[in-house]
Amino acid sequence: MHDVLVVRRVRAIDPKGELDAVVDLVIERGRFTRVGKDAARDIPASDRVRVIDGDGQWAFPGLVDLHAHLREPGQEYKEDIRSGLAAAAAGGFTDVCVMPNTKPVNDTRAITEMLVGKARDIGGSRLHPIAAITMGQRGEELTEMADLKDAGAVGVSDDGRCVTSSVVMRRALEYAHTFDLPVIQHAEDHALTEGASMHEGEVATRLGLGGWPAVAEDVIVARDVLLAEHVGAKYHLAHVSTRGAARILAEAKSRGVRATAEVTPHHLLLTHERVIGYDTACKVNPPLREEADVAALRKALADGTIDCIATDHAPHSVLEKECTFKEASPGMIGLELCVPLLLGLVRDGELPLARVVEALSQAPAKIAGLDVPRLAEGARADFTLVDPEHAWTIAPERLRSKSHNTPFMGQTVRGLVTATVVHGDVVFEGAR
Ligand code: DOR
Ligand code: ZN
Repeated sequence: MHDVLVVRRVRAIDPKGELDAVVDLVIERGRFTRVGKDAARDIPASDRVRVIDGDGQWAFPGLVDLHAHLREPGQEYKEDIRSGLAAAAAGGFTDVCVMPNTKPVNDTRAITEMLVGKARDIGGSRLHPIAAITMGQRGEELTEMADLKDAGAVGVSDDGRCVTSSVVMRRALEYAHTFDLPVIQHAEDHALTEGASMHEGEVATRLGLGGWPAVAEDVIVARDVLLAEHVGAKYHLAHVSTRGAARILAEAKSRGVRATAEVTPHHLLLTHERVIGYDTACKVNPPLREEADVAALRKALADGTIDCIATDHAPHSVLEKECTFKEASPGMIGLELCVPLLLGLVRDGELPLARVVEALSQAPAKIAGLDVPRLAEGARADFTLVDPEHAWTIAPERLRSKSHNTPFMGQTVRGLVTATVVHGDVVFEGAR
């Protein structure tokens, strides 16, 4: 075992520290002890020193996923904590926040503690539970948030379901506010989306599929920001998908409402046109929207209206996907594809690199109340190394996730995670 880890001549990008330069990184006892040009020059080679050649590589502060479904307990045939954490590490994520729509739902201290304990035993990337807002995610009775926070929950959400009752949402914001927990909303007015399996519009009409109108998201976001403003609580919008929601968010932020939001890679890249071949890998909730929505989401992410990028990693087996479009379960995997897909948007000039890095690391860490990762002397050594030029083809055998439901399967992408480092330990290394 080495005592010192050195990354030589890597392009280090730390948006918070306004750093973008080729430096050496020196890591001892889990922390950065030196960060700077030629900082490792006088460290002699020895078997106590592990050296990674950073030439041609980029270093990011540790990536944090605010939204993943690891399916344990209850649906381990789709994913479990071990495979999910392996996928997270392979995707460059040092931290992954896991949604409570498991079987049973994570609405109690016992389940939150089980998740934390199992992940700690496995090691590697860190797991942070997001507990339910309401018991059984039924939208009625609030969970015991004091216990959940004490057991390690970093937020509450009924994701997969929306908290549609205004009074339940108000009480949830009030209760969560006392513990400074963000309330994470899956914004969908279920009455408006009954029978829907894709975005309501021209394509749904042509295909004869039930439509999920954009306004079903917008009405909930509009109400929620007013409630969050009234209570003064932290509100976080999961997987924003519409131009309307982005506009409401911008207006709320301009008035000082404590609202934040995340967007998924697929909502930044794909439109409802992709559903034309009835590919169930393209069924996701909220659904893929229109060109104008994609453009608005990119712009909102670039200007900070949308704070961060989250994968909404939603593994499903072939059982749930090899069926009619109407019957298929919504969701796609994301942990291992996020970095290359986003780097594609950077390369195309759609998003600035520093904003993408911040949106994948420092911004979500702050929302979840985690230590904000930094590439700076004294900071805990949580970081990700990427070879931005390395091309690879997405294929089942390249993935750690147990499930392979993604419309990007078979696509060649550029950008490979070469190492993920958690508290100074290399928890993943990718073969170049
Ligand atoms: O596409 C989705 N899949 N959206 C959700 O809200 C839930 C998730 C899942 O759990 O599969
Ligand atoms: Zn959701």
